[in-house]
Amino acid sequence: MPRRVVILGSTGSIGVQALDVVQRSAQELRVVGLSAQASWETLIEQAERFGVRRIALSDPDAAARAAEHWSGEVLSGPDGLVALVSEAECDLVLNGIVGSAGLMGTIAALGEGIDLALANKESLVVGGELVTQLGEATGATIIPVDSEHSALHQLLAAERPGVLERLILTASGGPFRGRDRSELLDVTVDEALAHPTWSMGGKITIDSATLMNKGLELIEAHHLFGVPYSQIDVVVHPQSIVHSLIQLCDGATLAHLGYPDMRVPISYALHHPERVDVPVGALDLVRLGALTFERADDRTFACLRLARDAGIAGGTAPCTLNAANEVAVHAFLAGRLGFLQIAEVIESVLERVEPERVHSFDSLADADARARRIAGELVSERSGRG
Ligand SMILES: NC(=O)c1ccc[n+]([C@@H]2O[C@H](COP(=O)([O-])OP(=O)(O)OC[C@H]3O[C@@H](n4cnc5c(N)ncnc54)[C@H](OP(=O)(O)O)[C@@H]3O)[C@@H](O)[C@H]2O)c1
Repeated sequence: MPRRVVILGSTGSIGVQALDVVQRSAQELRVVGLSAQASWETLIEQAERFGVRRIALSDPDAAARAAEHWSGEVLSGPDGLVALVSEAECDLVLNGIVGSAGLMGTIAALGEGIDLALANKESLVVGGELVTQLGEATGATIIPVDSEHSALHQLLAAERPGVLERLILTASGGPFRGRDRSELLDVTVDEALAHPTWSMGGKITIDSATLMNKGLELIEAHHLFGVPYSQIDVVVHPQSIVHSLIQLCDGATLAHLGYPDMRVPISYALHHPERVDVPVGALDLVRLGALTFERADDRTFACLRLARDAGIAGGTAPCTLNAANEVAVHAFLAGRLGFLQIAEVIESVLERVEPERVHSFDSLADADARARRIAGELVSERSGRG
């Protein structure tokens, strides 16, 4: 019997690549639900191509348009997303939604005891312990899709508890690697969107340019693998060939290598624990010649430092960091904020909001809304100035 899969955010970069993986595995995988925010025409086209009869659109207007033009079932709004997951009788949910909007899909899947292939790192940044506890309570497994965490998942699978000394996350360094602050003052949106090694959605590409992406991944790794922040390092590796490393108590360091292609970790997550062919070239080390590594510059790229500090502070701090980042990145993409001001806005929001203990998902929603309001005010002040 094929594994029944729901893909959330199927119109995005991860979603489209996940459908590519599914298309090559018709015997093993069957899509039974698809979602997007507003891209209703693309979503219907995907549903027809994969024989899916149920879709969800978070934007109610887009859902209404889709319902007018399609004979299948169209679910609408946040409740529709939850219903898509909980009523699909699926074996696995792939969450490829961008931003904290993905938390709802994560909770829906784990709450139903459904295994989760998680690309939406923001779920773990915001939800942290509550998300991992929910999975433990219902017996659902989280299989990471982020390439670094997929690498760590594979490396750690072979090790017994108690032997791990450190996790080492690699970072490409983004398009502005090696620059100092004066060289970042006037960078444009197009320059920030030109990632040297990965082709991804807009938000994560800007996060990669600021190094916030690596900061979010640090918090994600902490929750996924239960490793303290003091034992997680970040090292810049511009070729993006080594996806991450683990250091063990006997002095061994193990690395996961491969060309940067998200279909590899997506395939790993969708087929786990099996492995199937993915059309990527075999690694040619001689042709690569050299792999290089550098210290991450968290003075210039302050987002990395802010994320580590927020992770260590715990409570609602990572949720506040994430919400402020989403507002600031959105403003940068809209031309309302300079590149360096992204970190300034996040830092100001974190200074104004004391972290609180997280009691429930509702307390996270409150922290998220507060941080978005303050970040929005700070963006308005700065864009008015500038
Ligand atoms: N792209 C990569 O290579 C990559 C690698 C590692 C991790 N990730 C992580 O994977 C996630 C997705 O990234 P991406 O690059 O694929 O993003 P993306 O290309 O921007 O796609 C985002 C998807 O989420 C949907 N969406 C956006 N806002 C939503 C909302 N409020 N409610 C429900 N659905 C919403 C979008 O629908 P519409 O099309 O209607 O807007 C789209 O389907 C992110 O958390 C990212 O950090 C991505």
